[in-house]
Amino acid sequence: MIKEKLVNSYVRLFGKNINDCHFYFAPGRVNLIGEHIDYNGGHVFPYAISKGTYLLARKRSDDRIRLFSLNIKRDPFIYESLYYDEKIDPNNKWVNYPKSTITMVRKAGYKINSGFDLIYYGNIPGSGLSSSASIEVVIALMLDDLFNLNIGKKEMAKICQSVENVCYGLKTGIMDQFSVIFGKKDNAIFLDCSNLEYEYAPLNLGKYKIVVTNSNLRHTLASSKYNERKQQCEEALADLNKVVKLNNLCELTPEQFNSYKDYIKDDTCKKRAKFVVEEEARTKAALASLKANDFDSFITYINASGKGLKDEYEATAEQIDYLVEESLSYPFCVASRMTGGGWGGNIIAIVESDKIKEYEERLCYSYKMKFDIDTKANVLSCADGARKLDNDLF
Ligand code: GLA
Repeated sequence: MIKEKLVNSYVRLFGKNINDCHFYFAPGRVNLIGEHIDYNGGHVFPYAISKGTYLLARKRSDDRIRLFSLNIKRDPFIYESLYYDEKIDPNNKWVNYPKSTITMVRKAGYKINSGFDLIYYGNIPGSGLSSSASIEVVIALMLDDLFNLNIGKKEMAKICQSVENVCYGLKTGIMDQFSVIFGKKDNAIFLDCSNLEYEYAPLNLGKYKIVVTNSNLRHTLASSKYNERKQQCEEALADLNKVVKLNNLCELTPEQFNSYKDYIKDDTCKKRAKFVVEEEARTKAALASLKANDFDSFITYINASGKGLKDEYEATAEQIDYLVEESLSYPFCVASRMTGGGWGGNIIAIVESDKIKEYEERLCYSYKMKFDIDTKANVLSCADGARKLDNDLF
């Protein structure tokens, strides 16, 4: 269906056939645990999902770049010559992610020696599941392939992260781009953000599945709050560094943190740092419990992470707290927490497989009653990362 839609629009807008076109896909992601610690040098535990961004493109013989998004349905956006500008265009918001990614790939020294025509379409539900990283990565993957750039995977993740950091001024870590690129079916990725070493961990939850529900809340302050949290963590680290030598907060165990915490002058910064250090410990413990088939401990860490995000990191929202609490009140849901950046976005819940329909009906109904917001719950299991889909095209 998606392929047909893309192909039909491509032919209508850009040419008679798609013989010399290539087809690419990059997923979104869900983070199981390890929230807000990628930029603190800690471990995260995300996985790629089956929904994401599909892209169809072909090289041109001239310098023009033509972009079209099926999600926007406006006329194609056309650059008359190869584009090189990291400024965000306030009048054409949708075009900024592809544009900025093209710019950052070129800035990293890769040669894009002709124009191209591309169409893309994304089916990630709502915000908070890395739809932006999904666009960045699918664009980078396409450039890498069309122009034989040989961008390594980790390098690609860093370039796509720089789109957020440099072009959007969002001081995000690397979790989203990394998981979109390195996703693996049936596995979550345990990633050490201090050195980008990683391992895959099979996510076998027995009779349970992960259900993701969107709050459909887009907090306008999310980006400034995010940068504020990063700043508070940096302040805490600077205070601690007067007495211990640390590269990042996640080097401390909770016990060590306890003995040094009073060197952090500001109480709010202390609270943020406490969350970070404990979240790092929980994430490592969550991996260990999965490996040991200790499901009970695993869900305890997931729930504790959610609680910390609400009370200590204060990264949730009234609607998110409601969705989590409501989920946990059902006997067939054993764990729930927000996932992603926060102040809106999605929650995850671990729900008995044969009760998912009931879960969705009850949760969506009570959410609508309480906030008058419609939502949907999606089962989103682990899928493969970004890839070329040419074999599916013809
Ligand atoms: C956003 C950022 C990530 C990460 C999460 C919170 O998704 O892009 O780098 O910090 O928030 O864990």
